Amino acid sequence: MDEELIGIKNTALSLILESEDLESLEETKLQFLGRNGKLTLALKKITEVPVDERKEFGILANEVKQAIEEAIQSQSNKLSKRKLTRVIEKIDVTNPGIKPALGHLHLVTQAIEEITAVFAKIGFERVRYPEIEWDWYAFTALNFPQNHPARDEWETFFIDTPPDPEKGKMVLTPHTSSGQIREMEKSKPPIRMLNIAKCYRRQSDISHTPMFHQFEGLVIDQNISITHLKGTLDYFAKSYFGPKRISRIRPYHFQFTEPSFEVDVTCGVCLGKGCKLCKDGWLEMGGAGMVHPNVLIAGGIDPKQYSGFAFGWGVERVLMMKEGMQIDDLRLLYSNDLRFLKQF
Ligand code: PHE
Repeated sequence: MDEELIGIKNTALSLILESEDLESLEETKLQFLGRNGKLTLALKKITEVPVDERKEFGILANEVKQAIEEAIQSQSNKLSKRKLTRVIEKIDVTNPGIKPALGHLHLVTQAIEEITAVFAKIGFERVRYPEIEWDWYAFTALNFPQNHPARDEWETFFIDTPPDPEKGKMVLTPHTSSGQIREMEKSKPPIRMLNIAKCYRRQSDISHTPMFHQFEGLVIDQNISITHLKGTLDYFAKSYFGPKRISRIRPYHFQFTEPSFEVDVTCGVCLGKGCKLCKDGWLEMGGAGMVHPNVLIAGGIDPKQYSGFAFGWGVERVLMMKEGMQIDDLRLLYSNDLRFLKQF
C-alpha cells in the first residue's frame, strides 16, 4: 500500500515537471486528483488497510496529496509567467495605436456657438437666464395684461406650485424674451445682450419639439432706431447664411414690441426670385421689433431717455434654413440616434 502511494507521488511529480503548458498540467492534475484519479482511487483503498496501520496510511496519503498539489501550483505559476512573457515579446511597440473614437458637438450646440460668434463680433454679450421662470418675466412685465388671450399663443407649460403674490405662477419659459427684463434689472444701458436658452411649448410634430432653443437679441441705448435693427438683421443674414442673403421686415404684432415685425431672409436656393422650395423667394425667420415703452418701464429704464430693439428666433429653425440643410423631422435632433447625429 505505502509503496503504491510513493509510486503515485513519483510519477505525478515527474509528469508535472514535464508539462509544457497549462492545458497538459490540468490533464495531469485530473489524472491524479480527479474523481477517478489515481491518488483518489488509491485513497479509497483505506478500507483494505489493517485498522492499526490506518493512521500511518492516512498521514502518508496526506503528504502525497499535498506534495502533488504544491508541485501543480508551482508549475502552474511558472507556466503562466512564461505565457505572459511570450505575449509581451509579441507586442510591437512601433505599431501605431488604435485611435479612440472621437465624438463631436451636437449640431444644435454647433449652431449656438456659431450664432454666439457672429453676434460677438458686433458687441453682443452672451447671457443665460432661468428656464423655469415667473409669469412676471415671461408675460406680465412684457406688457401682457393679466389673463390676456395673447398668452395662449405661447402654449405655455405651467408649474404646479403656489403662485408668488407679485410674480405670479411659475412657467417653463416659452421664449427667451423673459431674459429682456432680467437683463434690464441686471445692467444699465448701453445694453447689447444675446440670450440663448431652451424654451418650452406644448407642441410636438414634424416641425416642432416641446423643447427648442431661441436666441434673443436686445439692444438698449440712446437714439436706437429701426435702422439699427435692420442693419443688425442684414448683418446676421449675411454672416450666418452667406454673403448673398438679405433680410426684410414685415409688420406684425407682439405685446412687447412697438412697432413689431416678422423677419424674412431670402431663400438660399433662388436668392429671392421664388422657387419650388420657398414659393415667393423669402423664408420666415422669426419676430423682432422696437422695445415697447411699458417693457422698458417694467425693467426700470426711462423710455424718454432710452429706446431699444429686440429680436428672437429659433436656433433649430435658422439651422434648418441654412443652405444645404434639410431635416425632414425636427424631432430627429433630439432622438439621440447616432446614425443621424454623426452626419453633422
Ligand atoms: N418672443 C417672440 C416669440 O417667441 C419673438 C420676439 C422676440 C419678438 C423679440 C419680438 C421681439 O415668438
